[in-house]
Amino acid sequence: MTAEPFLDLHPATETMLDDVLNGFATTPRALPSKYFYDAAGSLLFDQICELNEYYPTKTERWILETYVDEISAALGDNIVLIEYGSGSSIKTRLLLEHLNGLAAYVPIDISKKHLMMAARNLEGEFPTLPIFPVCADYLQDIDLNLTGVLSKGDGHGASSVPTDDGAKRSKEPSHLIFFPGSTIGNFNPEQARDFLKRVHHLAGNNGHLLIGVDLVKDPKVLHDAYNDTQGVTAEFNRNILHHVNHQLGADINVDLFEHRAFWDESAERIEMQLVATDHQKVDINGSVFAFNAGDVIQTEYSHKYRIEGFRALAEDAGFTVDRVWTDPQNLFSVQLLSTI
Ligand code: AVJ
Repeated sequence: MTAEPFLDLHPATETMLDDVLNGFATTPRALPSKYFYDAAGSLLFDQICELNEYYPTKTERWILETYVDEISAALGDNIVLIEYGSGSSIKTRLLLEHLNGLAAYVPIDISKKHLMMAARNLEGEFPTLPIFPVCADYLQDIDLNLTGVLSKGDGHGASSVPTDDGAKRSKEPSHLIFFPGSTIGNFNPEQARDFLKRVHHLAGNNGHLLIGVDLVKDPKVLHDAYNDTQGVTAEFNRNILHHVNHQLGADINVDLFEHRAFWDESAERIEMQLVATDHQKVDINGSVFAFNAGDVIQTEYSHKYRIEGFRALAEDAGFTVDRVWTDPQNLFSVQLLSTI
């Protein structure tokens, strides 16, 4: 594995100032959820995943562990596994270990550093598996021309795929895109449909999407998952302001904001906000914004789906839902979609 990605689409990473200025110009003010995840925020998110109240990660892992052989059987062989936001290594390993017909693994991540670290670790653990890291923002269009690459052999172990014997490899490998964690919930339904259309394009003919989708459920369970008793989610939420301070040299007094998360019954989503407890003026690179007690910064939506609702959305984007796996309490779903 070289130090450079197989493909580098040079995702833009320098737009935080614009995003914050634009977000603070709207009513209510808002910040993009992606800014939760600096180093501290990523650690806090890992802690969230371990909380008793936060069921999604554990439940999705249980579903994948329980049904991975069924998933493998539904996929057939000659599969290229493409992972969006390749941070979730435990779930990835499960697939790399259990998918029978795996021809290659393509992790996609916006952070070159994390991408190459993860790829190098996996290369050690799966020495015969060709790994092609792609540095890109999965919100942008990605053109992945893997045709030929897999058959050429380039020192990544791709020689296990025969080059000169068409009979052994009668068809091009099919793409399986893996998008776990119900990250799709951060999009509103319209953005989710556009996102799924882009995934559909990348998946191509005979392609699949394996996606984690969190489900509508008892509002108390939802409320507790985003209002844990230890206050980890509150720290995670407030950390977005620390991130802004560090990255932009801003002077937000983070102690004057408190965490709020509530279930919006009609939109079927959790909404997270930061609520000012007192007045303050903040300076973002020379632009001054006044906050009064009660003012809100909207930081995250986490949409939950019903099986039928998600199917309609997937079909709008051109997919067919082949299989839906859930846990016994119907908290979470892992769904296999195909592009046919
Ligand atoms: C990573 C977007 C799936 O929506 O549950 C966890 C993020 N926010 N606790 C979610 C999150 C608050 C999480 N996603």
